Amino acid sequence: MPSQFLKNLKEQFELKPADCREIISAFSREMANGLAGRKSSLKMIPAYVDVPKGDERGRFIAVDLGGTNLRVLEIELSGRGRIKKLKEKKFVIDKKYTRVSADELFGFIAKKIKDLLRWQPIEAGFTFSFPVRQTAIASGVLAHWTKDFCAKGVVGKDVVKLLERALYRQGIYNLKITALVNDTVGTLVCRGYSDVHSDVGIILGTGTNACYREALAKIIKWRGTKPSGAKMIVNIEWGNFNKLTVSCYDRQLDRASENSGEQILEKMVGGMYLGEIVRLILVDLCKKDLIFDQRDTALFGRSKSFKSEYMSEIEADCTADLSRTKKILKYFGIKKCSFSQAALVKKVCELVAARAANISGSCLAAVIKRIDPALKKKHTVAIDGSVYEKHPVFSRQMRKALKTIFGQKAKKVQMVLTKDGSGVGAAIIAAVAAKAKKK
Ligand code: BGC
Repeated sequence: MPSQFLKNLKEQFELKPADCREIISAFSREMANGLAGRKSSLKMIPAYVDVPKGDERGRFIAVDLGGTNLRVLEIELSGRGRIKKLKEKKFVIDKKYTRVSADELFGFIAKKIKDLLRWQPIEAGFTFSFPVRQTAIASGVLAHWTKDFCAKGVVGKDVVKLLERALYRQGIYNLKITALVNDTVGTLVCRGYSDVHSDVGIILGTGTNACYREALAKIIKWRGTKPSGAKMIVNIEWGNFNKLTVSCYDRQLDRASENSGEQILEKMVGGMYLGEIVRLILVDLCKKDLIFDQRDTALFGRSKSFKSEYMSEIEADCTADLSRTKKILKYFGIKKCSFSQAALVKKVCELVAARAANISGSCLAAVIKRIDPALKKKHTVAIDGSVYEKHPVFSRQMRKALKTIFGQKAKKVQMVLTKDGSGVGAAIIAAVAAKAKKK
């Protein structure tokens, strides 16, 4: 019976308040361990930068390599939060570049930069949205790939050096990379340029991650001279959090992935994976003869064929006969679909997305509790990414989770969509670095 299946599925995917509390305490423990340099699934990487003052000025280039796109921008900062994009080019990263050699990947990036560059010397911020262990504001080593990237010869290398070398190969000598940035950090910094309450940055897109402002004194693992200032942004790399209860579908997805055993939270939340979880559940329903004909298993059989965007469309389907859902199912060759079958598909999508939003909300709550245990102050959480922006109920569900955890005080936490922060933030951090050099 589909109803029994659904009951089991709900048991696996619905998070009760007690489950959220458990996530919060495990996440808090892992954060503390990561900051102390003890074993932890959270890397807690110091970003060598704090939120800006807002008076940073100048023209800068931003290079933004995410999971899906490469963007190159020229940005003018005029102080007091004023930002102008002078130029912007966006390129979809062809799948082949995720598996080429380091020279080919960085050569591709350098070529795209060349197309936008003028002859004047200019400084740039490089947003590289992968787990990089930073060693300075403009250097850091890739710990491991995520989001199905596996280009060879990059893990263990300084990614700024790789980009600089590729720029020289292109004959570009007038561009200096002065800041290396994670996209979460760029997003927080971008919002922080005009909003003094900003202290958390989150990406909920192809991949997922968060960063926050930490007291320098609490970054216990820090060695060497402490930089000036009382706080520093820490890149949590929350996608790798592994203290979550997983379902059989998560295990299946993980086994088939490029990085099995890693990025467990990301595989339950990231847009790269949400559709795949839905697909695996639909295949199971087909195999058990609870939805479409067995032969349709083959239609759902192509890995990653069920895009997370379909989930958004299905969940937004308010038509009386679920015609939009049925239309999507037609892409999979399902020509005859009853109302109850479409409703079941919709329910599966809802459960998978709600779990992702509840996990994200709980982890955000753990971060806020770390910064401000009694929730006395206002906090702006800068968020970007396709899942947060495009999914019809994700942000609402996340807010609901915060309300369950914090009650009325949840109002103090403002979640703000901060579009393009990863690019603009890189330019702002390059400006912060330029200002520090002049001192
Ligand atoms: C990476 C993070 C990044 C996140 C969002 C994850 O796969 O490990 O560094 O911030 O994706 O792009």
